[in-house]
Amino acid sequence: MANALPNVAVIVGSNRRDSLNRKLAQALVKLGAGKFDAHFVRIDDLPLYNQDNEGSPPPEVLRYKSELARADGILIVTPEHDRSIPAVLKNAVDWGARPWGKSNWPGKVGFITGTSPGAIGTALAQQHLRSVMLGLGVTLLGGEAYISFKPNLVDDQGNITDESTRNFLQGFVDRFADLVGKLAPARATA
Ligand SMILES: Cc1cc2nc3c(=O)[nH]c(=O)nc-3n(C[C@H](O)[C@H](O)[C@H](O)COP(=O)(O)O)c2cc1C
Repeated sequence: MANALPNVAVIVGSNRRDSLNRKLAQALVKLGAGKFDAHFVRIDDLPLYNQDNEGSPPPEVLRYKSELARADGILIVTPEHDRSIPAVLKNAVDWGARPWGKSNWPGKVGFITGTSPGAIGTALAQQHLRSVMLGLGVTLLGGEAYISFKPNLVDDQGNITDESTRNFLQGFVDRFADLVGKLAPARATA
């Protein structure tokens, strides 16, 4: 296990078939190739959180929580809905946090980014999400990566076509990989 790459769970905060954020997430995973092992964690099949069901959660929730439990790092790529966190993503955050004492979030390293066609590129959604995830004990990568989506920003092979955006995001991915790599061994032995 000494040379194993850190495990990163990728969460896309959209349940839309042609999600722009999923495209961006796929491109970010490509930028992280060889630096971490990424796997996409499904959230669109999670039921609406209900505390009554915490004692006997459905299989989708058990699958989701076990995928989070295995992860050293969390990459969240989210749209902005009505200037905040999309409901599908907040629902997934809540399931990850519960039941009390079984939260999957503390000690993970998180990188939050997102894209929208709008000028502020999900800034408000990301700010709200940062506040939530910090409260849940996630160590968040610093800096701000608000991506205003332009047509063909990501090509069919999952490459970011605009050089300055690609370099900008490569910097985030490299710092994220570095931080996950440093903190993952500590988490594994904690
Ligand atoms: C309910 C709803 C609310 C939205 N609110 C915002 C918003 O506050 N800011 C923004 O930039 N775009 C907003 N949009 C537009 C999204 O940025 C756009 O639909 C984008 O494609 C969503 O990302 P996705 O393709 O990954 O689902 C909203 C879209 C929906 C459906």
